[in-house]
Amino acid sequence: MKKIRMGMTGGGFGAFIGDAHRRASRICNDFELVCGVFDVDYERSKAFAAKEGIDPARCYENVDAMIEGELKLPADVRMQSVSIVVPNALHFPFAKKFLQNGFHLVCEKPMTMTVEEAEELERLVASTGLTFALTHTYTGYPMVRQMRDLVAKGVLGTIQRIDAQYYQGWINSIIHGTDSRITGVWRLDPKHAGVSSCMGDIGVHAFNLIEYTTGLEIKEILSDLSSVKDDISLDLDGTVLLRFGGKLKGVIRSSQVCGGEENGLTIAIYGSKASLKWSQEDPNYLYMLSDTEPTRIYKPAHGYNEKLAEESHTMPSGHPEGIYEALANIYKGTAKSIRGEKFNPGEFPTVHDGVRGMKFIHAVVESNKKGNVWISI
Ligand SMILES: NC(=O)c1ccc[n+]([C@@H]2O[C@H](COP(=O)([O-])OP(=O)(O)OC[C@H]3O[C@@H](n4cnc5c(N)ncnc54)[C@H](O)[C@@H]3O)[C@@H](O)[C@H]2O)c1
Repeated sequence: MKKIRMGMTGGGFGAFIGDAHRRASRICNDFELVCGVFDVDYERSKAFAAKEGIDPARCYENVDAMIEGELKLPADVRMQSVSIVVPNALHFPFAKKFLQNGFHLVCEKPMTMTVEEAEELERLVASTGLTFALTHTYTGYPMVRQMRDLVAKGVLGTIQRIDAQYYQGWINSIIHGTDSRITGVWRLDPKHAGVSSCMGDIGVHAFNLIEYTTGLEIKEILSDLSSVKDDISLDLDGTVLLRFGGKLKGVIRSSQVCGGEENGLTIAIYGSKASLKWSQEDPNYLYMLSDTEPTRIYKPAHGYNEKLAEESHTMPSGHPEGIYEALANIYKGTAKSIRGEKFNPGEFPTVHDGVRGMKFIHAVVESNKKGNVWISI
């Protein structure tokens, strides 16, 4: 089968997530990288393209030149999809232009800067019929998919509490002056990051994971955020109470200043009959807890898993599936959608998940600003 010709914006030398996207696209083996604007600096972008073996004529100075250049190429040479892996403020303007010119998208989160922009993209995707995958990477892990399908089968009984946590520590040493790194620090600047640092960058993953695994919509939130220091304008830490309607409640706790924490994303769903717990730093084990039976552990690549989880491993059991494979699973589903093949809706988060994420981020900031009040989302 022919590979899908993929372009990329961002992801040059030293960039964090672009490299993971390239690796994931190769693991699933459905894409080939043919062009891009890899860096804000054109010289660095060209050097990067040369290293990747990209035709120099297809390393463009900016997104407008990329669209113009690609549209001049024959349809069977032209890129078909673009991966947007630049800082947050550029997602919307880039995504809009690519969609308007007929290109499928894989876009990083948070999808946009505002809810209005997110809704505009949702309308564009609907009117163009193009594929839009939002890379909430953790939804690609086999055991997260297993969690989703077990919840959908009702094995937990009535869900009574949902608890998600996303703790990192890396910004702690930056704000206290002991780490002088440059990449990634745009997350503290509202011009590049948007209205939130902690909740926009990682809290939104926890939010998405809850809605992805349960199929439920969070209806109302109340937040209590902290910027930790007076000279920081965005939140670096916070707690969000969740209401799902009816009796079900939950909480998201998220922080970028929990010194020593690495990528501590966890989710627990507590039901009347059983509970499920999963942790990103130990992603190949899904724990089912019960009051009456010993704890059960699900693992990838076993026939007992539900269909999507079973299809989401890349190696036989006992070979750990990691973050690249999770992202590759999202790329795999995206490829099916681009090719017009049948796919499971759990295979990739969509533009609608992006709208939900932007509503969450803005509601969390508004709730905190108004003195910790309940806001509908
Ligand atoms: N899904 C995940 O788990 C995950 C993880 C990390 C980052 N992200 C998201 O990915 C995005 C990028 O984050 P990052 O940590 O890789 O950032 P980064 O700072 O490491 O890399 C950004 C890249 O974009 C390039 N760039 C900036 N302006 C550009 C422009 N005008 N044209 C072309 N390239 C440009 C930079 O030169 C750099 O190569 C962010 O939106 C972030 O939230 C998602």
